[in-house]
Amino acid sequence: MPSVTETLDLEGGITILDVGCSSGAWNMASEYPNCIYHGCDIVDVTYKNVDVKQFTFSLGNVTNRLPYEDNTFDFVHMRLFVTCLRKDEWPTAISEVIRVTKPGGMIQLGEFDLQPQNDSSSLYYRILSFKDVTCDMSSDTYTVKMFIWDNLEVIKSMRRVLDSMLGIHNQKDLISFLKEYKHDLETKESVVGFAAVTVQKL
Ligand SMILES: C[S@@+](CC[C@H](N)C(=O)[O-])C[C@H]1O[C@@H](n2cnc3c(N)ncnc32)[C@H](O)[C@@H]1O
Repeated sequence: MPSVTETLDLEGGITILDVGCSSGAWNMASEYPNCIYHGCDIVDVTYKNVDVKQFTFSLGNVTNRLPYEDNTFDFVHMRLFVTCLRKDEWPTAISEVIRVTKPGGMIQLGEFDLQPQNDSSSLYYRILSFKDVTCDMSSDTYTVKMFIWDNLEVIKSMRRVLDSMLGIHNQKDLISFLKEYKHDLETKESVVGFAAVTVQKL
């Protein structure tokens, strides 16, 4: 995103944290190989086949205290937490994300549905951009391919919650559901909306 790439020296190499990193697949190592990538999650489900040499995983709960010193990262990314945190847990989570970001560093949150307040900049951060993106899932672009892959991975990693809702009782059901879901995403006229807010720590 321009607000990030224009402000931070991604080419030169910065330190990046992905909170709730899950498989560890979100990273920009292929585009920005000089950066150092960290990921944390309450469970270790990192995808062992992803070979990111400069990726370090740590167990960490964003509603408690993340295992990092204050002002550690130039860029902190946190995505798809809307189904993970209760409303009362968000203030702690946001405080933690701000705490571990360096002054002048940036934070980016991405969710399927974010509603901007009129001006929720504060003493601690200012909002740089608020972007709504829609994606035609049958458009066969690289972004769509990655998005579909990510969707399928998220379903696999959230089976404890989703299985009963989706009528999945065993591995065979899972495989058949994922196949049908992927096919529908690729072929039906579906559009996915995503919103990202980017802020700078003051
Ligand atoms: C829906 S997945 C999103 C994964 C990844 N961020 C992405 O966009 O593909 C949410 C992730 O957040 C992790 N998570 C949930 N609650 C958390 C918490 N309190 N602290 C840290 N990670 C948490 C889950 O284990 C899961 O890996």
